[in-house]
Amino acid sequence: MSSELDLRINAEITESGPISFSRFMERALTEPSLGYYVTEQIRAGREGDFITAPELHSLLGSALARMATEVWRRVGEPARFRWVEYGAGSGALALALVAQLRRDKSPLIDALEIQPIDVNTFRSEELRNAITNQQQNGAPVLVGADAPPVAGMVVANEYLDALPFNIYVGRAAAAHGVSERCVGLAADGVTRVWVERDLDASEAQRVAEHFGAPLVEGQLAEACFAFDTWLREVTTRVTSGLVVVIDYGRDGVTLRDAASRMAGTALAYQGHRATTDLLSEPGERDLTAHVDLTALRKAAAAAGLQPVTSTSQAALLAGAGLDDEIDRLRRGPEATLEGAIALRSALAHLMNPRGMGGFAVELFALGTPEHKSRMADPTNPLPGAAAPIRPLV
Ligand SMILES: C[S@@+](CC[C@H](N)C(=O)[O-])C[C@H]1O[C@@H](n2cnc3c(N)ncnc32)[C@H](O)[C@@H]1O
Repeated sequence: MSSELDLRINAEITESGPISFSRFMERALTEPSLGYYVTEQIRAGREGDFITAPELHSLLGSALARMATEVWRRVGEPARFRWVEYGAGSGALALALVAQLRRDKSPLIDALEIQPIDVNTFRSEELRNAITNQQQNGAPVLVGADAPPVAGMVVANEYLDALPFNIYVGRAAAAHGVSERCVGLAADGVTRVWVERDLDASEAQRVAEHFGAPLVEGQLAEACFAFDTWLREVTTRVTSGLVVVIDYGRDGVTLRDAASRMAGTALAYQGHRATTDLLSEPGERDLTAHVDLTALRKAAAAAGLQPVTSTSQAALLAGAGLDDEIDRLRRGPEATLEGAIALRSALAHLMNPRGMGGFAVELFALGTPEHKSRMADPTNPLPGAAAPIRPLV
């Protein structure tokens, strides 16, 4: 049976012809009241469709707390320092951050303001309630999306992979060697099908510049053009500090290696299962693709950010107090058997180089040249920001 969102999307296609996958994805994920990410249903977590590091354990929040304290020091210990979190959900990461800052007795806690950005108002309300319950002596402060910028740290964990992307296919016969894979309707007027569209010269040039090399015949590849806008927005929220992107991603050449990636990386998730059927059940499935780190770095340079490090989640955790946390959780006064078991299971996921441990961590500095060089100082890396000893696969 067709859902309301099915009908709406099909009506748009009937009216105006095949739509880009990014338009389909935008409606499937964020259509007001109906999109996958805007309804009340839990998406991230054991009872949802996928698990993320902050939903699994507090370890990532603890590592980022160590990093945030040092970033705050390097921007001169300002009286207000903002944690801007894109895709903050119900606040698992922000709460782990605050808890770790308190355990460390970090002076940052008194300067901390939290600016959660999320399309889901149900999760945002849960986050607001949780932070309000945590407030001691007035800290941390929650600020709205339109607060004027201050120094801070911007974090996006598994956010960029959910931003709408277009899909292209290598076609030697097409005018520019590439076609766009759009979403159309079969003759029954109900079933959504892939439809290929030729690009005009300027679109083809934009795609060629984005990919850097032609796709082979039949090869599929995704292109997200939203990073530039996102990073420009980031610079309106934070004046100086650090941007931290954590996600599954690879450089563009690896992502579009025809020998291993003929089908691209786009997937739909439902109930912890992945499928390549991207067009069914809009609003019921997460839609996602690997983040193109080359495109992200280019967008960062265009927004005036300075690259600090490209590392992995395992290296970030290992370099930012993991051993202390393991000791605390296994032998500290609050240690419990359940806690030790949860820790062991979380470590197996978070440190696995073929799993979350291999997620990309991209750090960029913003602010004055002095602030940027302090963030990116190779002789004194931020906690967790040293390059991995060996590249993780
Ligand atoms: C994969 S979840 C990750 C959640 C959280 N960062 C974590 O690691 O558990 C993606 C998050 O981004 C939010 N999101 C997705 N698209 C968004 C958009 N266009 N604008 C703002 N938030 C969005 C979702 O509501 C969701 O909370």
